[in-house]
Amino acid sequence: MQEKVKEKEIKGLLFDLDGVIVDTAKYHFLAWKKLADELNIDFTLQDNERLKGVSRMRSFEIVLEIGGVTMSEEEKEKNCAKKNDIYLEYINQLKAEEILPGVREFLTDARKNGYKIALGSASKNSRLIMEKLGIMDLFDEIIDGTVTSKAKPDPEVFQKGAEFLKLPYDSCIVFEDAAAGIEAAHNAGMLAVGIGTVENLPEADLLLPGFKNIVIEEILKKLQEVKND
Ligand code: BG6
Ligand code: MG
Repeated sequence: MQEKVKEKEIKGLLFDLDGVIVDTAKYHFLAWKKLADELNIDFTLQDNERLKGVSRMRSFEIVLEIGGVTMSEEEKEKNCAKKNDIYLEYINQLKAEEILPGVREFLTDARKNGYKIALGSASKNSRLIMEKLGIMDLFDEIIDGTVTSKAKPDPEVFQKGAEFLKLPYDSCIVFEDAAAGIEAAHNAGMLAVGIGTVENLPEADLLLPGFKNIVIEEILKKLQEVKND
């Protein structure tokens, strides 16, 4: 039997950013699409699914694979920078209202109830995005692509999250929308709440459609039920 989940033992909440707090996938898509068009690569919305949770460089390599194109490292770096410039044009227009439904309320309630909160994202643009959403003050720590070197499913980002919060790994849970992120949480010895469907996230310990009308205590109770079955 799996180890029992006790509500009071969970003290830290680690949140992925893109797809959990805000839907930036559509802006990533528009930026990759523009670049792909310039490179004569046919890049679809369905292809974009493969880039969720994946680093910028790895995303570009997938785009190149789709087009059957090869490129020098230098050229790849240049194109990634170009994609990011296009992406930032969208992010600079991001409105605070674009935060996903219920997220602000969920974070506010969790903080009020004494949970420590950290971001665990692959993005190098996370601070700008969080500033635009006006949620910087709801986080104790930010671990993102600027302070990590290993991509999910490596557990580095979440292990650092727990370390920055000064908590043991198994007293943190992770909220993720990407399969690689769920795997990263498990690799760190943490439970993972998937934001999505069983088709996308079959390995999640619990699935939620989002944060609307739910509080942390309810999630911990549900996790306890699932794990103690
Ligand atoms: C992840 C996104 O959070 O961050 C990926 O899901 C993205 O799609 C990655 O490629 C890196 O983001 P950025 O903002 O540093 O290009
Ligand atoms: Mg994500």
